[in-house]
Amino acid sequence: MDDPGSSSWLTGLAARAAGSMSTPLREYVEHAAGAGVTAGEAAAAWGELRLRPHVLRDVTDVDPSVELLGRSARVPWGVAPTSLQRAVHPDGEVATARASAAAGAVMVVSSNAGSTFDDIAATGVTWWLQVYLPSDRTLAGPLLDRAVAAGAAAVVLTVDTPVVAAWHPSEALIWDVADPGWTRVNFDPGYEDQPGSEKALDLGPHDIDWLRERTGLPVVVKGVLRGDDARRCVQAGAAGVWVSTHGGRQLDRSLSTAVALPEVRRAVGDEAEVYVDGGVRCGLDVLTALAAGADAVFVGRPVLHALVDGEAGVARLHAALLVETVEAMRLAGCRTPADTRDLLAMAPDERP
Ligand code: FNR
Repeated sequence: MDDPGSSSWLTGLAARAAGSMSTPLREYVEHAAGAGVTAGEAAAAWGELRLRPHVLRDVTDVDPSVELLGRSARVPWGVAPTSLQRAVHPDGEVATARASAAAGAVMVVSSNAGSTFDDIAATGVTWWLQVYLPSDRTLAGPLLDRAVAAGAAAVVLTVDTPVVAAWHPSEALIWDVADPGWTRVNFDPGYEDQPGSEKALDLGPHDIDWLRERTGLPVVVKGVLRGDDARRCVQAGAAGVWVSTHGGRQLDRSLSTAVALPEVRRAVGDEAEVYVDGGVRCGLDVLTALAAGADAVFVGRPVLHALVDGEAGVARLHAALLVETVEAMRLAGCRTPADTRDLLAMAPDERP
């Protein structure tokens, strides 16, 4: 059960974490919008895809590393941005960052993080900043400047949250019990009281260009589920498009990311990188997502579940994913993530 190499360690992760979290924290982490249709289908959707493995290939040396936005990552998965990590463990984002640096995984830091960008950067992790843009774009300036100064390697613009989808009252509880130091420490004090600080309802492709100019960093657009929108992102200068339903926490009845991914990859071609998250829970999911067109895969809730045990927990999560991903790659006859590209069993016009 405790061996990070055994599949049961990952399978039992959420249940074990549940026992260590307060009720409001657990409800916040597991929250799903609406009737929970999208959140409920996410993981199972990876299991609906079918693979055509190669055989008679030498898989002695398997190398799961990828190049993301011009930098090498030792593994093809990263940490998705999630808030309130310091409510899960006192070391919060810093523990996640330490474990991810050691594993060679990219970490995306929520703009609502409870650890400073400098403390996260000091771990040596390759990190990207996630942002929501406010109505008055200039108010985002200090946060962006802080991230650039601390060495963020990219900016991830979350576009699926023009408004925060309604929460069940019990979810709101967590914000009541949350220590103010657990969140938003990278904003100027009093940020939320300023007119224009509410989430922008008028986001457009021009914001991608603006962010790129403002930060000098590659911009990734998170929350894209359609090929036509993905094209608009690329034409506006996005370096990456991230297929996501926000973990099923925004528009319920959105299609699964496993279903949306091939269309987005086809629309983007090689003009930008494509990432995916949502329901990725094991190494076979990682392989399947790579085969379906992702350059990298991101993991949200499992990181929070693992973080219950601090840095050691997140290190185990990375170790377990590595063991399983390498095994899945060997079984599929793939030595590198690039080798996975022809694995998906699909009609030719549906392929990534
Ligand atoms: C999130 N997510 C999220 N996304 C984002 O862009 N900014 C954020 O601050 C947060 N915060 C957040 C908190 C919590 C508790 C969860 C569970 C999720 C969404 C996250 O980045 C990612 O898209 C999903 O979590 C991926 O799905 P899985 O891996 O949780 O199934």
